[in-house]
Amino acid sequence: MNAPSSGPLHSALAEAADAALEDTVVGSISRVGFLVRRRLYGWDGPADGALRGKVALVTGASSGLGLAAARGLAELGARVVLLGRDPGRTDEARSLVEEETGNPDLHVVVADLARLADVRRVADDIAETCSRLDVVVHNAGTLTHRYERTVDGLEVTAQTHVVAPFLLTGRLLGLLEASRGRVITVTSGGMYTTGLALDALAAPESDGFDGVKAYARAKRAQVVLNEQWAKRFGWTGVTFQAMHPGWADTAGVRSSLPGFHRVMRPILRTPAQGVDTTLWLASVDPPPARDGQLWLDRHRRRTVHLPGTAVSAIDATRLWDWCVSASGIDPERSLEGLGPDRTRPTTSPS
Ligand SMILES: NC(=O)c1ccc[n+]([C@@H]2O[C@H](COP(=O)([O-])OP(=O)(O)OC[C@H]3O[C@@H](n4cnc5c(N)ncnc54)[C@H](OP(=O)(O)O)[C@@H]3O)[C@@H](O)[C@H]2O)c1
Repeated sequence: MNAPSSGPLHSALAEAADAALEDTVVGSISRVGFLVRRRLYGWDGPADGALRGKVALVTGASSGLGLAAARGLAELGARVVLLGRDPGRTDEARSLVEEETGNPDLHVVVADLARLADVRRVADDIAETCSRLDVVVHNAGTLTHRYERTVDGLEVTAQTHVVAPFLLTGRLLGLLEASRGRVITVTSGGMYTTGLALDALAAPESDGFDGVKAYARAKRAQVVLNEQWAKRFGWTGVTFQAMHPGWADTAGVRSSLPGFHRVMRPILRTPAQGVDTTLWLASVDPPPARDGQLWLDRHRRRTVHLPGTAVSAIDATRLWDWCVSASGIDPERSLEGLGPDRTRPTTSPS
């Protein structure tokens, strides 16, 4: 007897097959995982024009997954703000997206996330010029094998992936709240290899610096912070989700992990497959009921696979406090200026 292709039995079988696929790790994260799950669940694309009238900001939009996300958001009808650090390449990306989607409502903002002054400036520009902000995709990121400190005195991986996005969200929180916006952070399966290791994140040793470990720590921190944002600011109506794109064939992977890229190339996802879950999280209506979650292929995933990598509530709070001090913004106070009732209604989260 064939299993029915919809209904509770099919859903249960699909969930079981998906869970088995997740346990294979490589199968799950590769292109195979994407193709199998698309078939298992019979995904529909987001509805045409699902984001018409909405405004979306994508960081790292000049290449790879950020460019694919900008293209997908533009196809759905959003006004898209492309944030890049190189004006020429980011404007090329804007032209390409316009040509491919026919959506002319695309805008470039230039900021190097390794400079917090840049982040403050663009956040203020966006807050001044945009009447709403419905989606933020924190995508910009890099894996570097060289120890490098930013002008703000932080290790560059930690600043680009953790502190700068924290500052950007904090600075844009009022606008996001007014639009019941969605904040989506692009993390990585690399984070499964580590716990939080805040001391190493905040002040890594320059001698024997291991870029892969620094990247994994930053990606773990993104997932923990995503949970913290949801706990602390879910009451505003803004939702916070982290997603893992799987392994996708991008310039970033080619340049930072050439050996990995050579071997895995046949099973890497396309950038469009890598951003499918981002676009789904940005547009699905209603948004997922619970926020602060980690997603891969439109399904919630565990945040811990290995013993010793779970993060305690105390460490999560320490991470938040470190971001407040490193970024110079306390989001818990940033809404206060917007009116007498704009403070968090309950006491601190656990
Ligand atoms: N591809 C994968 O398999 C994979 C897997 C898991 C997670 N991810 C995550 O996906 C995100 C995108 O990666 P990708 O693979 O698309 O890499 P990519 O092709 O190298 O794109 C990275 C983007 O981030 C930008 N960027 C890097 N540092 C920046 C800074 N300091 N300020 C502003 N923009 C900066 C880059 O700008 P430039 O063009 O100027 O360099 C580029 O636009 C990253 O967060 C990465 O960790 C990727």
